[in-house]
Amino acid sequence: DFHAIIPAGGVGSRLWPLSRAEAPKFLHDLTGSGETLLRDTWNRILPLAGAAGVMVVTGRAHRTAVQQQLPELAEVNIVLESEPKDSSAAIGLAAAILNRRHPGVIVGSFAADHVITDGERFRQAVEEAVAVARSGYITTIGIAPSEPSVGFGYIRCGAPLAIEGASHAHLVDSFVEKPDLATATAYLASGDYLWNAGMFIARADQLLAQLAETEPLLHEGLLEIAAAWDTSKRDIVVDAVWPLLPKIAIDYSVAEPAAAAGRLAVVRGDFPWDDVGDFSSLAKLLSGGRSGDLAILGEGARVLSDASSGVVVTQSKRLISLIGVTDIVVVDTPDALLVTTREHAQRVKSVVDAIKQAG
Ligand code: GDD
Ligand code: MG
Repeated sequence: DFHAIIPAGGVGSRLWPLSRAEAPKFLHDLTGSGETLLRDTWNRILPLAGAAGVMVVTGRAHRTAVQQQLPELAEVNIVLESEPKDSSAAIGLAAAILNRRHPGVIVGSFAADHVITDGERFRQAVEEAVAVARSGYITTIGIAPSEPSVGFGYIRCGAPLAIEGASHAHLVDSFVEKPDLATATAYLASGDYLWNAGMFIARADQLLAQLAETEPLLHEGLLEIAAAWDTSKRDIVVDAVWPLLPKIAIDYSVAEPAAAAGRLAVVRGDFPWDDVGDFSSLAKLLSGGRSGDLAILGEGARVLSDASSGVVVTQSKRLISLIGVTDIVVVDTPDALLVTTREHAQRVKSVVDAIKQAG
């Protein structure tokens, strides 16, 4: 029995002003496919989990948008948060609810905002991970790294695991969440590490057991909420317990300690995977890796370009004209305009922080 969990939180501040608190990254079409990233995520996992087997965890403010995107999502499979408590709480609560409904269930958590273009090879990796999870490991999916990114978790592959139905599975020697640049550079050079693709597949009870060990308060709170979830006491218990839960990413609460205890496994994924964290990655993704091209995203976009490259994202029908600018980033939305370069695209987050500070 396999159930998928899609945690859909986070704002994606490096994609401002496209990604906003009201319309976070997962509610956008970043590939030009006509589908939002959330819908793509749903479509991708559907053949393995079935519509009744996917649970979405999101903020109360996004309920309507999520239901619009996923009309097949049953009411019992939406978990709404009153405030964000990071990925351990989001994924942990879904796992705890599912484990009560289906004791011993295997769950897989998949980020709502990634771009994966080969659904078939993605599902092959997930099926292998489910086989590994069945034999008792908390299982991640690893991607061969291409640069010393400091935005990812790094997985050091250990001994291969002999598990039927999983030919690309290894024990994990260590898991390091978001190392600094020098460390990431050394990891890349060593050739021994994979990027964590942000997917966790495990028996729900084993995921919860790991949480109980490392974050006992969080674990206790989640079990309390899950026990009340399918009862009339849900709202009272949630309102009392949720605000007190510790805020911590699952990479710290589960992946790092599980690796240290020899309980973490990794399946090598060989599908194209992109977390599209900023506009430079978006430009690369949309132009298929060809630098020197101008990539354009937006329905009915009107862009005139003369010897220009980079990316234009537009939500307006305004004519945008570029002359002789290279590696430029232009993001035109009804109430905010961003102009920067691919080189500085990472710094967009500081603009968002400044706006927040100014209130
Ligand atoms: N519902 C809900 N509530 N979801 C959340 C919350 C929350 O408070 N916080 C995070 N999430 C969801 C995000 O929407 C995303 O689907 C997933 O949990 C991971 O959170 P991110 O905030 O996107 O994490 P990250 O990108 O910094 O790092 C993670 O992903 C990388 C790959 O993209 C880590 O797992 C890294 O190790 C990994 O390499
Ligand atoms: Mg992310």
